[in-house]
Amino acid sequence: MTSDKVRGAYSGLADVYIEVLGSLGAVHPGDLAFVEGHLGGVPGPVLDLGCGPGHLTAFLHSRGVDVAGIDLVPEFVAHARATHPGPRFEVGSLLDVDRPDASVAGVLAWFSLIHLEPDALDDALAAVRRLLTPGGVLVVGMFEGAAVEPFEHKVLTAYRWPVEEVARRLARTGLAEVDRLQRAQEGDRRPYLALAARA
Ligand SMILES: C[S@@+](CC[C@H](N)C(=O)[O-])C[C@H]1O[C@@H](n2cnc3c(N)ncnc32)[C@H](O)[C@@H]1O
Repeated sequence: MTSDKVRGAYSGLADVYIEVLGSLGAVHPGDLAFVEGHLGGVPGPVLDLGCGPGHLTAFLHSRGVDVAGIDLVPEFVAHARATHPGPRFEVGSLLDVDRPDASVAGVLAWFSLIHLEPDALDDALAAVRRLLTPGGVLVVGMFEGAAVEPFEHKVLTAYRWPVEEVARRLARTGLAEVDRLQRAQEGDRRPYLALAARA
């Protein structure tokens, strides 16, 4: 999935996405606790990569975290800047973040790796990994399934992943799992996982 394709798909649906999913009310309280638990106290800057409308960036900022949000989609970044004063927001790609190696203490990639083809995940994780300080923490959220397979997500094709396979990919990139969370299907909400891992 090229970045142009992702940007085009989300740009066309940005208003709807913001309305339906772009606030903390749409996030499970346990997920907020997981994100805060792993990124709330890190000793240095945090990046929310693929921040979308910026509500999780703002959440971390409200918890005292020095956080910036980066997203491919200008409409999301414009909304985030207008709605959430405090954190910095930038248009950019998580595959090519304009920061030195080993310069951030935490990264949140909350459902922003879901459109990557399975063959592209390792390179994306490596691009994120190089940003982290030793001991730096990555928190990822992904859709979960028994096998790696694509499905028709409302915006564009996404992939579901077995949690063990994501943990393996993280380990291969030099990120050791420290915690995981799995949520079963609930109504329309597909099963998903979150992993926290340390560089
Ligand atoms: C499902 S949305 C999640 C947004 C937000 N993290 C949230 O929880 O609502 C996926 C987001 O990842 C962003 N994204 C996907 N690939 C990206 C990339 N290569 N660089 C930056 N953002 C990307 C999309 O633009 C979109 O905002």
